[in-house]
Amino acid sequence: MKALTVVLAIVLTVALLAGTSVAENKFVGTKSCAMCHKAKDKGEAFTIWQKSAHANAFKTLEGDAAKKIAKEKGIAKPPSEAPECLACHVTGGGAAKNVDATFDMKEGVTCEACHGAASGFKMIHTKAENKAKAVEAGLLTGDKARICETCHNAKSPTFKGFKMAEMWAKIEHKLPKK
Ligand code: HEC
Ligand code: HEC
Ligand code: HEC
Ligand code: HEC
Repeated sequence: MKALTVVLAIVLTVALLAGTSVAENKFVGTKSCAMCHKAKDKGEAFTIWQKSAHANAFKTLEGDAAKKIAKEKGIAKPPSEAPECLACHVTGGGAAKNVDATFDMKEGVTCEACHGAASGFKMIHTKAENKAKAVEAGLLTGDKARICETCHNAKSPTFKGFKMAEMWAKIEHKLPKK
């Protein structure tokens, strides 16, 4: 009996540790971010994203240009269902299982594509002094050099090069100065 208790304790501990790991974080979608990141005096990250091409990235796959590209590549599925296209056009690449009910891949390339799945950091990142904790919980603060070219690269059928300064200027968003 005692041995069983020990085994159970170990199993539970491992399960708990796994539960708090970054890998277990879920994508939650943009609605909860909008709540705090939409207002002008809060930096407007949501509004800037909503007007950007990233918010339209899934819809693009439903258009004629996308269908033409997919056909030329011999992809049988419609592009909006094809893993070969969803890989870069939606957060999580179209096959993510770590998603909350609030997540909808039709939102395209969302905040969480660049800042990490938010279920773990959402509630704790809102104070500057919690920054380290939030990062530990999965918040990616925005490493342009690492992020952008994971999608903006020659594997994109329409790729014509990537100029960081020019491209960042089109989606630039930041917190207001304190
Ligand atoms: C309850 C309000 C609230 C919600 C909800 C919220 N945020 Fe924030 N967020 C804040 C505040 C306040 C800050 C500024 C914290 C500070 O002063 O460092 C912030 C900062 C950030 C930062 C900057 C971190 C840094 O220091 O570089 C990112 C990125 C971010 N939020 C992303 C998100 C994403 C993605 C979501 C949705 C999943 C989200 N936030 C939801 C309030 C919120
Ligand atoms: C998860 C994949 C992904 C990541 C990461 C990503 N992008 Fe994009 N980006 C796309 C897709 C897909 C499009 C095309 C959207 C469309 O037109 O439907 C796009 C379009 C854009 C556009 C509009 C196209 C243009 O030429 O004006 C800009 C600007 C842009 N991205 C900047 C960036 C920057 C800067 C970064 C890094 C901070 C970044 N992107 C990271 C997938 C991504
Ligand atoms: C490696 C990531 C990646 C993959 C895979 C990918 N795309 Fe894209 N797609 C992008 C990025 C980034 C952009 C915006 C910049 C560019 O054209 O490279 C984009 C832009 C587009 C555009 C808009 C071009 C424009 O000028 O408006 C279409 C249409 C498109 N992709 C269709 C597809 C289709 C169809 C597939 C699947 C066969 C696909 N993409 C696969 C990353 C990708
Ligand atoms: C294409 C990638 C990308 C997307 C999409 C994106 N961000 Fe960011 N975000 C970044 C990068 C990169 C930075 C850091 C830029 C820098 O170096 O100053 C950043 C910075 C921020 C900051 C400011 C941090 C500061 O200290 O000023 C906040 C807040 C933020 N993002 C929130 C959001 C929210 C909320 C969304 C969705 C509505 C979003 N971001 C969508 C890439 C992205």
